[in-house]
Amino acid sequence: MKDKKVKTPVIAGKKIVKTFGEAKVLNEINLEIYDGDFTVIMGTSGSGKSTLLYCLSGMEQATGGTIYCGDQTITGASEKELTKLRADKFGFVFQKTHLVSNLTLYENIVMSGLIGSGLSEKEVREGAKQLAAQMNLQDAVDRLPSQVSGGEAQRAAVARAVMGNPAILFADEPTGALNKANTKEVLDLFTELHKKGQTILLVTHDKEAALRGNRILYIEDGRVISELALSEYKKDDSMREKKLAVWLEGLGW
Ligand SMILES: Nc1ncnc2c1ncn2[C@@H]1O[C@H](COP(=O)(O)OP(=O)(O)OP(=O)(O)O)[C@@H](O)[C@H]1O
Ligand SMILES: [Mg+2]
Repeated sequence: MKDKKVKTPVIAGKKIVKTFGEAKVLNEINLEIYDGDFTVIMGTSGSGKSTLLYCLSGMEQATGGTIYCGDQTITGASEKELTKLRADKFGFVFQKTHLVSNLTLYENIVMSGLIGSGLSEKEVREGAKQLAAQMNLQDAVDRLPSQVSGGEAQRAAVARAVMGNPAILFADEPTGALNKANTKEVLDLFTELHKKGQTILLVTHDKEAALRGNRILYIEDGRVISELALSEYKKDDSMREKKLAVWLEGLGW
């Protein structure tokens, strides 16, 4: 039987520093993101959560330290290498969906699959159709982003992000612009993806979103100051909610 406790890092950062002018936003952060984990990053506004996510995913270059993704070094890689790494291995979801406004949800998902996946157009179209069904988007999939709900648009953005089977799905406040019902839909989708083995790194302010993770990191003053391990998510798990609430309270949240 596979020992569940042995976890492989997908990304490892050593002494990550990021400065903007005089401001040291990330201050020698050491961390590993493990395969199959749903890792959540919390912290007050301006604490450096997005900056950390951008550095780990190679969207921004760290000022110091080293970041590895498998045997590839992200720090110091050329823009060309990073573009390839992001296209091959990473999926991204943001607060705003950044869907292409004159393409239907379906075409948005397909387009992402056509870039760098190595699949034929037929395979991509088939895959996109299956993914849309999985995300319960059948009714909305042939409409433009302006003609669907915020939740539907964000679910399409998640479908687009996981279209190429990314090693990591990065999400920065994916529910930040959604109402309660739409937030739940999108979070349920993340939970489902995680159950199927998708590695997720989610930045959020939202306790409901954080509850979905199995490992929560809290950052302050450019460092990870605390970490909480949670069991796998279950609905209406009051012990789990309590554990998170107590931890956050202790951090002055
Ligand atoms: N491109 C930039 N140039 C200068 N300063 C920046 C830049 N990006 C971020 N910062 C600063 O770095 C700090 C951390 O920003 P970051 O966006 O990582 O915070 P955050 O924790 O994601 O906040 P929020 O919860 O509000 O999204 C902030 O003080 C911000 O103003
Ligand atoms: Mg942010």
